[in-house]
Amino acid sequence: MRKAFNSINKRKKEILIVICTISIASCSFFSLLSLHATWYNKELKHEISDEKILDFPEGFLWGAATASYQVEGGNYNSSWWDFEQLEGSIKNGESAEYAVNHYDMYSSDIDLMKDLNLNSYRFSIEWSRIEPEKGEFDDTEIEHYSDVIQKLRKEGIEPMVTLLHHSVPKWFEDEGGFKSSRSVEYFSEYVQYVVSALGEEVSLWITINEPMAYITCGYISGKWPPGQMDLKAVPFVFANLVRSHKRAYGVIHTYDHDAEVGIAEHTSHVVPAGEKNFAENIAVMVIDKVWNHHMIEEILDELDFIGIHYYYKQTISTKLAFEALNNDPEDFESRSMERSYYPQGLYELLIEFSSYGKAIYITELGVQDYHQIERDKFIKDHLIEVYYAIKDGADVRGFYYWTLLDCFEWSEGYEPKFGLYEVDRSDMKRILKEKSEVYAEIAKCNCVEN
Ligand code: BGC
Repeated sequence: MRKAFNSINKRKKEILIVICTISIASCSFFSLLSLHATWYNKELKHEISDEKILDFPEGFLWGAATASYQVEGGNYNSSWWDFEQLEGSIKNGESAEYAVNHYDMYSSDIDLMKDLNLNSYRFSIEWSRIEPEKGEFDDTEIEHYSDVIQKLRKEGIEPMVTLLHHSVPKWFEDEGGFKSSRSVEYFSEYVQYVVSALGEEVSLWITINEPMAYITCGYISGKWPPGQMDLKAVPFVFANLVRSHKRAYGVIHTYDHDAEVGIAEHTSHVVPAGEKNFAENIAVMVIDKVWNHHMIEEILDELDFIGIHYYYKQTISTKLAFEALNNDPEDFESRSMERSYYPQGLYELLIEFSSYGKAIYITELGVQDYHQIERDKFIKDHLIEVYYAIKDGADVRGFYYWTLLDCFEWSEGYEPKFGLYEVDRSDMKRILKEKSEVYAEIAKCNCVEN
């Protein structure tokens, strides 16, 4: 071997060495990757308790969540309003013009929360109401939210306020939205205004709801405003959302040192269709990193808690992805990532996220009517997993069901119905759904039946 090696000229030797080095490096890289990828196949398991009643920690927050554009109605200065006017942008041509009139009915809606024994409410402030034109803040609108908070406090319901839940003012979008670096300044001016008006009454803040969903739907699939399919924009939007969160965190803490400030992340439990399928394992690893963790890692020093949204397990299948691409590219997302009911995934995510050493709130979890699983079972099964995660060390402090009322489900219109209450939109009457009662019982006893 050495003889043969010595007999070839210097140039060839160098080439050979480079090739060998590259091969060894890439082999080790891919083996490391696949070693790491197999981690994703290991299910984290908990012991099963034989206790009949599983108690939650004292002071645990039981809530429901909503978002301004989806429930309030009359948000004509939002980017969503213009988007709605585009032909085909919303299923069945539906509109949030009146939504479910939570803007006028907030007081009786808070009574509904009381009926459910809830002790917290997560809602969002509509930036486009507060600042309908650049630099012009509307004091009457901030008073509205102040009234909401006062009513909540009177009823013993802790407000959790989201500053941005997918809807931004039109003027902000016209100025380039989060693609533009000016967005950081604009967002922080809005936050400054809100916090100086409401800061004394609020101690739980979420800066931005689901940044990754916002990027994916607004700038990759174009299903949401600004309706772009612009991959080049993605890193800029991501960086500006990170900077906006950090600035907002600073603004809130300058005002109130003790406030708790977090972000709400749409997480999902991702698994490969084939346990040993290398490509699927790599895809899972990348999706988990980009979708679930990247943003959190970027803002870890400016986070008091992590808000987790959990709806389903996603199974990544390369076979279905190829089929979808060949037959119907439109169907690519739904076919390549099958979504299914998997409460155990919540336990795994909570344990995984607790390694960040932050408090956790489950800021959304919900199920649509007519899903394969009934709402009462869905809620109970997931809460049992939350119980075990707490027992195994996760610092989970609250749970917010998505959502209080059936409402405007973005580009899907009113068809998906996640609400604890049904809304008859002809007279805006709220009707408690039978399967929601279990949540009221859970919130009352601060426990779940095993
Ligand atoms: C969003 C909500 C949405 C819900 C149900 C969450 O990702 O924050 O605005 O309505 O999912 O689809």
